[in-house]
Amino acid sequence: GKYRVVSTKSMPGTRWIRLLTDNDCRLEICTEAKTILSVDDILALIGDRCDAVIGQLTEDWGEVLFSALKRAGGTAFSNMAVGYNNVDVEAANRNGIAVGNTPGVLTETTAELAASLTLAAARRIVEADQFMRAGLYEGWLPHLFVGNLLKGQTVGVIGAGRIGSAYARMMIEGFKMNLIYYDLYQATRLEKFVTAYGQFLKANGEQPVTWKRAATMEDVLREADVISLHPVLDKTTYHLINPERLAIMKKDAVLVNASRGPVIDEVALVEHLKANPMFRVGLDVFEDEPYMKPGLADMKNAVVVPHIASASKWTREGMATLAALNVLGKIKGYPVWGNPNQVEPFLKESATPPP
Ligand code: GLV
Ligand code: GLV
Repeated sequence: GKYRVVSTKSMPGTRWIRLLTDNDCRLEICTEAKTILSVDDILALIGDRCDAVIGQLTEDWGEVLFSALKRAGGTAFSNMAVGYNNVDVEAANRNGIAVGNTPGVLTETTAELAASLTLAAARRIVEADQFMRAGLYEGWLPHLFVGNLLKGQTVGVIGAGRIGSAYARMMIEGFKMNLIYYDLYQATRLEKFVTAYGQFLKANGEQPVTWKRAATMEDVLREADVISLHPVLDKTTYHLINPERLAIMKKDAVLVNASRGPVIDEVALVEHLKANPMFRVGLDVFEDEPYMKPGLADMKNAVVVPHIASASKWTREGMATLAALNVLGKIKGYPVWGNPNQVEPFLKESATPPP
């Protein structure tokens, strides 16, 4: 292989490996057993000669690593994730390194996990499962694990991009919920979908669903029965959910986060969960992964899973494939089956990779 490409982790599937090795690359996959590599570990991997790196969202890609990659002759870095808050894109560009991400292939898988968390929280699935396994079930009771009905209620979406819109469609079509959303951009296709579905329901003699684009995020928090967070994490969305905003949400609202942990002030969330037993959350991400803030693990009104929103086989293989294509597109100077997903300045729509 002419080009030395390093992957900081083993990734699902073999397609991404074949793509690289069939296209003049010598691939080195890090075999280090520890879950999260340090900057020093990655510096050692880059070494004196490295054309491109495929990295993970748990790694801190800043000036130190990008200048080392530049010195090693590198020109490309691909994050195996759609979110790239772990990447200092300016530092990469200063060092002449193109940055890629893996949007598109994880949209539906991530939205389905957010929908799963919504149902699990609303219907108290995990609490009920633990009750069952603990041998506490003594027979049906009218009050046993009573939760929230979603039908006819309002789903609030903060950040109606690819994932937020896919989630909204699932909740609207699946559970006939009304939509209120907040985004800097108008979600035109989503609005059209809700309008058309509403007309379909009406034509069938059912209550139509409705949509509303909120003028402020507070309007969503006040009005919605279920709120799902789908923003990009940056300075403007850090602690977007803070004590003031928790306070205006309905006392029995369901809050879901499958975006990035720091979007929620997690210490404030734990306090809110303690004070409001009917308020429920479903969390895929945490402020300080892999840790949870003190007290969260004890809250029965929280469903917590370890950052698995994109974890379907199809999607993870697709992410790995896209990450390899990003790297190839840059180092070989051609698009393999489309344009590499280069991050600048906004995420671009991507095609779905061939099966
Ligand atoms: C996962 O969290 C991703 O951003 O792809
Ligand atoms: C509950 O199981 C019912 O039959 O209502």
